[in-house]
Amino acid sequence: MTAKFTPRVFSGIQPSGGLTLGNYLGAMKRFVQMQDAGSHETVYCMVDLHAITVWQDPATLARATRELCAGFIASGIDPEKSILINQSQVPEHAQLAWVFNCVARMGWLNRMTQFKDKAGKNRENASVGLFAYPALMAADILIYHATHVPVGEDQKQHLELTRDIAAKFNNDFGVDFFPITEPVIEGAATRVMSLRDGSKKMSKSDPSDQSRINMTDSTDMIAQKIRKARTDPDALPSEAKGLEGRAEASNLINIYAAFADMSVDAVLAEVGGKQFSEFKPMLADLAVAKLSPISTEMARLMEQPDEIDAILARGAVRAREITAPILKQTYEIVGMVGA
Ligand code: TRP
Repeated sequence: MTAKFTPRVFSGIQPSGGLTLGNYLGAMKRFVQMQDAGSHETVYCMVDLHAITVWQDPATLARATRELCAGFIASGIDPEKSILINQSQVPEHAQLAWVFNCVARMGWLNRMTQFKDKAGKNRENASVGLFAYPALMAADILIYHATHVPVGEDQKQHLELTRDIAAKFNNDFGVDFFPITEPVIEGAATRVMSLRDGSKKMSKSDPSDQSRINMTDSTDMIAQKIRKARTDPDALPSEAKGLEGRAEASNLINIYAAFADMSVDAVLAEVGGKQFSEFKPMLADLAVAKLSPISTEMARLMEQPDEIDAILARGAVRAREITAPILKQTYEIVGMVGA
C-alpha cells in the first residue's frame, strides 16, 4: 500500500517544559539512529502548535522551543541530514489540519484517551484545539506523506486515528493519495520510568524533581539522583526474568542497557549478584559520561539563539519544498479553486 511513497520518517516532540532522560532515551536517541541509518528521509519537529492546546506563557514557550532544538542537535540530529523544524514555521501543517478537521468524526475524537485524561472532569472548559489535537498530529505526518512514525506507546491511538483519517480521505475522494502510516512503537528497553516510582513514566510534569533526570542537570545532580533512586533491598538477578515484579530495579537496568547499547540480559550477565550500592555508581558514571557532552553542547547552543533560529529557518525552507506541493495537491483533490 505504501510502496509508491518515499520512505520517510516523521516525529515530533512538544516544547512544553524541559527535556528529560525519558525524551532522550525514548525518542531522540532513536531519532538519531534512524537518521544515521540512511534508509529513510527523516523529519523531526518541535510541535509548538500542539503545545498551545493548553495555556503556555509566551516567553516560556519560546525558550522551550529553542531548548528542544538545542536538545535535538546536541543529541546528534544533524540539520543537514534531517529536516529539523518548528511546526508553526511550516504553515502547511495547520492548513492540512483544517481539512482533516473536516474528515475526522466527532465520535473518533471523543474516544481519544489522551483528550479524556488531559481535559479531566472539566471537558466543557477544554480548548477546541485540545479536542482537535489528533487531527493536527495526522496533518504533521501526512503533509510529508511520512511512511514511518517512531512514537511512544501512549501515542498509538493517535497513530491509528492518523491511519483512519488517511483512509477516509482517500476513500471519500476516490484517490490513493495519503499513505497508511506505520507506527514504530518504542521497545520496552527505552521506556524510562520515574526514579521515585517504577510504575509511572518519567515525566517533566512530575512535581518531584528527584523523579527525573533533566537534560540540563549538572553531573553532580545526575549522580545524586541516581544514588537516591528508589530500589528494593535485593541483589540484582543474573537474568531478565528475575526482574519481574521489581519495577524500580528493571528501570535502572533498562536505563543502563539503553546507555550502553546492550541488551538487558547482557547487562545482567555482568552485574547479576551485585547490590544496588555497587550498581548505582556504575550507572551514575555511565549516565554522566553519556549526558555531559550533550548538556554542554545544549548550554553552548542556548547561548547562541540566533544560530538556533537560523537552523530552524533553514529547516522550514527545506520542509516546505515537500509540504507545499502536497498541500496544493490536497486542495486540488478537495476542489479548492486557485490551488
Ligand atoms: N503528540 C505527540 C506527543 O505528545 C507529539 C506529536 C505531535 C507527534 N505531532 C506528531 C509525534 C507527529 C509523532 C508524529 O508525544
